[in-house]
Amino acid sequence: MTLIYRPRRNRKSHAIRSLVQETRLHPSDLIYPLFVTGGIGIRDEIKSLPGIFRMSIDSLLKEVDRAVEVGIQAVALFPVIPSEKKDLMASECMNPRGLLQEAIREIKEAFPDLCLIADVALDPYTSHGHDGLVDGDGGILNDETVEILVQMALIQAEAGIDMVAPSDMMDGRVGAIRTALDEAGFSHVSIHAYSAKYASAFYGPYREALGSVLKNGNKKTYQMNPANWREALREGYLDEEEGADILMVKPALPYLDVITKLRDATTLPISAYQVSGEYAMIMAASQKGWINGEQVLLESLMAIKRAGADMIFTYAAPKAAELITIGALD
Ligand code: PBG
Repeated sequence: MTLIYRPRRNRKSHAIRSLVQETRLHPSDLIYPLFVTGGIGIRDEIKSLPGIFRMSIDSLLKEVDRAVEVGIQAVALFPVIPSEKKDLMASECMNPRGLLQEAIREIKEAFPDLCLIADVALDPYTSHGHDGLVDGDGGILNDETVEILVQMALIQAEAGIDMVAPSDMMDGRVGAIRTALDEAGFSHVSIHAYSAKYASAFYGPYREALGSVLKNGNKKTYQMNPANWREALREGYLDEEEGADILMVKPALPYLDVITKLRDATTLPISAYQVSGEYAMIMAASQKGWINGEQVLLESLMAIKRAGADMIFTYAAPKAAELITIGALD
């Protein structure tokens, strides 16, 4: 054949393939979500998240050490609150000596250079599992919830958090948190906004991990409709105007188009959350021997980055970092 263009020329050796490679994954792209629980010496594996544990603070410090060793520079903390401390008002989230705040202090002291992120949302603390306060008819109260979120962000800031990550999807929360942080002398604390957070069935294993499975209803009046992308841009614009430093899309792999569109619509950094259900599906198929789990993991993370994410939350962060470092992608 007489062909002017033979694209295969650019794929003919490893050296050439790496010269023309457009996207690269690096351990410093990854954010490692961690579940913290009370007690001592606890490392309790979550059934639907193989290899992921609810850890007491002492075990968590060891896990963070292991993650830092392989190049992870950011972790996100999620507290597992015992049901007797959950209530309708999420009161425990405003306890300055609460589990999350203690974990923040201890990790920050042991790893001052690590970027520490924590969710701002009521679901780990409410007896019904919703991210906001529920009114008499089962509706989610927006403005009343924002007042609590603001308090929650302030006590995380006092404990030493680097970034607060509002994941609740209440309207106006980013602006309210920004103002309150600034007024309290925390203008250095960043807001990592869950901007395009969808009402997704992919969060199942996370809710099991936290014991925050919804008692009734669903999250569709605050989390976004999976059918929509323009609305994601609108949420992103609002969070940017209200002072967010980073905009997140969540889940990640099923929403690559949203990542790309938001990437094109803002100059802010974009993050993506490879959520619990995404991780669980890869692990389950891998355990059955139906896919090569490690390769599928790296391919998924690469796809998320290629779509436009600057950083990725993934439960597989240390594993992925190790694989990247040994060149498993090549
Ligand atoms: C809390 C929150 C959720 C996740 C992160 N923060 C669950 C939800 O909104 O129901 C999901 C994370 C995951 O599935 O890995 N608002």
